[in-house]
Amino acid sequence: MELTLLQAAALLKSGQVVAVPTETVYGLAASLFKEEAIAKIFALKARPLNNPLIIHVAHPKEVLQFTGLLGKDFEDLSRAFWPGPLTLVFPIIQKRIPAIARSGLLTAAFRVPAHPLARELLKLTGPLVMPSANLSGRPSSTSRRHVETDFGKDFPVLDGGECTSGLESTILFQDGFYKIIRQGAIPREEFYKVLAYTPEIVSLQKGENPLCPGQLFRHYAPRAKLTLQTTIPGDFKGVILGFQERTYPSLCKVYQLGSLNDPHSISKNLYKILRQLDEDHIKEAVVDVDFPPYGLFSTILERLQKAAL
Ligand code: TXA
Ligand code: MG
Repeated sequence: MELTLLQAAALLKSGQVVAVPTETVYGLAASLFKEEAIAKIFALKARPLNNPLIIHVAHPKEVLQFTGLLGKDFEDLSRAFWPGPLTLVFPIIQKRIPAIARSGLLTAAFRVPAHPLARELLKLTGPLVMPSANLSGRPSSTSRRHVETDFGKDFPVLDGGECTSGLESTILFQDGFYKIIRQGAIPREEFYKVLAYTPEIVSLQKGENPLCPGQLFRHYAPRAKLTLQTTIPGDFKGVILGFQERTYPSLCKVYQLGSLNDPHSISKNLYKILRQLDEDHIKEAVVDVDFPPYGLFSTILERLQKAAL
């Protein structure tokens, strides 16, 4: 069910949950100060309560009411990447953020999204928590249609068109040096210009408490079984997720992820194609992963690896 901006703002202020476009993926939004609405988000997504939510604000300075003073890094990172697909995790003043939003952690994750409708909405509503608008474990939603597939035609959606990035935000955590605890729409190499180093990517170590609770859970997966391959045998006859520049065996059914010369086109299409496989009742597919492991391709590969688990 499509909403106007003012309807979306009114619903959120009255404690309802609304799907909201961002430049990365659609979010399932609730006011940070409506705990029942936040609980409803976890229930709607079937999301484990120990997987905390990102707090979205209209302007970087709004973060400080939750954290107290932050240092020069915050200034530099927020100036360089906000509004945009960067999420920053900081220690917080506990009483200012309901425990349910941060799963009881003493830190919280913050982002200033760039989508014009999300920004207008945040100015009207104040801080919103927004996990991706998908059933837990499934590919994120990059259009209103995806949201309606997961939550039904009557679900209230602010329609902002197709998301331009199509991959979730990059999450940075400070532990002496900054570390990437979730790869995302900003490739790690891009942080060099601000930090003067390239942050390491932290992956989940067995038995350890994860820095990013989301790493514990299955993600981004279509029902189809995906196999990642760097070579495709010449007599292969199945379904392939591949690239515009490549020629695949003639008996294959090919789903185009985009152009290898334009990784943004691939990130924009990725979840749409994963969802399309389900709509087309595809049971298994091979993904061509013969691409360089850096820049946005690194995030794309990580998402595909999780989707193939
Ligand atoms: O692009 C995005 O970030 C989208 C749009 C809607 O903004 N949101 C999104 O939210 O991807 P979600 O809930 O699907 O993923 C949030 C991730 C989870 O993996 C969660 O564990 C992690 O952020 N997270 C949240 N708070 C955290 C914290 N205090 N410390 C570490 N990780 C945290
Ligand atoms: Mg998600």
